[in-house]
Amino acid sequence: MILVTGGAGFIGANFVLDWLSRGGEPVVNVDKLTYAGNASTLAPLSGDARHIFARVDICEAAALATLFTTHRPRAVVNFAAESHVDRSIRAPGEFVQTNVVGTFTLLEAARTYWSGLDAGEKAAFRFVHVSTDEVFGSLEPDDAPFNEHTPYAPNSPYSASKAASDHFVRAYHHTYGLPTLTTNCSNNYGPYQFPEKLIPLAITRALKGEKLPVYGDGKNVRDWLYVTDHCAAIRTVLERGVVGRTYNIGGWNEKANIDVVHTICGVLDELRPAASGARYARQIEFVTDRPGHDRRYAIDASLIEQELGWRPSETFETGIRKTVAWYLDHAEWVGGVTSGSYREWLDTHYAGSN
Ligand code: NAD
Ligand code: TYD
Repeated sequence: MILVTGGAGFIGANFVLDWLSRGGEPVVNVDKLTYAGNASTLAPLSGDARHIFARVDICEAAALATLFTTHRPRAVVNFAAESHVDRSIRAPGEFVQTNVVGTFTLLEAARTYWSGLDAGEKAAFRFVHVSTDEVFGSLEPDDAPFNEHTPYAPNSPYSASKAASDHFVRAYHHTYGLPTLTTNCSNNYGPYQFPEKLIPLAITRALKGEKLPVYGDGKNVRDWLYVTDHCAAIRTVLERGVVGRTYNIGGWNEKANIDVVHTICGVLDELRPAASGARYARQIEFVTDRPGHDRRYAIDASLIEQELGWRPSETFETGIRKTVAWYLDHAEWVGGVTSGSYREWLDTHYAGSN
């Protein structure tokens, strides 16, 4: 049994679906089901005895203790987090609560359980903490990409809360010997991503004939990784990673935001031409920049390749085509997750764009 947190969110759900489809051990999936968690994503697992869903907040110590003693997992993979930078700018408190207090509470529950294991089980136990490249701050155009020795310099409430959680994970290994591993990954995209993040937002708004909001000059750069490549990297770290290490994970795909949006428009022009005959790129609109917007993220993912043999299998071009095609085929999923509270977010955050 493994215990996964945040397994109803974008990356966590992809991880659980992949894990079980590959014949992995049963999963206890611990998720609070915030606005970003969608039980419908896990519908393919309904009736599958290998998937146990627990609607639990990772800040609830007693509920976590019960889950550990009942299910006796051999590993934890911690995805649960508040994950959207723009929301962290508007309402940072929830980020401190889940990302910092929640990770701390989960570490404590894991440590208590792990302390009671016999020597063999203790040595085999793993706590994998899934984090982000945003903890390293922002790069200048000519700077070398982030590696595992880059100092932390988080700039947003989101990245600051993730950085704090990473420090707690590190401290639990150093102080108590808990067998932890941390991954710092670049921007993910692919199926089941909530349409508040750039790529699914652009696809879904384009199809509705709405403006495609690009912050600032559109030249901020992100590295993009297809989500199933990230899931494979996490499985690799869980199986073969050196305890106590951190691993940077990236797609070797640096792109400016405006180029990402143009690529999406081009794929849509081909796969689902607008009824009007107009090009989707005509919907692009430059809007007010995000406060403190990091200019560039880039990842040097050589350590995980050299040490553990992981490399991404998708290029941005192959991954983005799959992603656009997936959203075209899953209009029902999009309709189901974009509830009233999602529309309220759009109305507040993009007031003035339509
Ligand atoms: P997401 O927002 O789509 O999903 C987060 C999940 O966590 C949701 O299912 C939500 O219900 C759950 N959750 C939130 N608070 C919780 C709590 N207190 N207790 C239990 N469950 C809770 O996020 P994602 O994009 O899937 O990201 C997953 C992890 O990967 C996060 O830790 C994030 O920091 C990290 N990460 C994300 C990216 C990316 O591009 N999305 C890149 C690198 C790292
Ligand atoms: P996002 O998907 O929110 O991920 P992150 O902030 O974690 O990198 O944003 C990706 C990039 O796209 C980021 O530079 C901000 C930009 N962006 C826009 O230009 N317009 C938008 O509407 C959104 C949501 C993001």
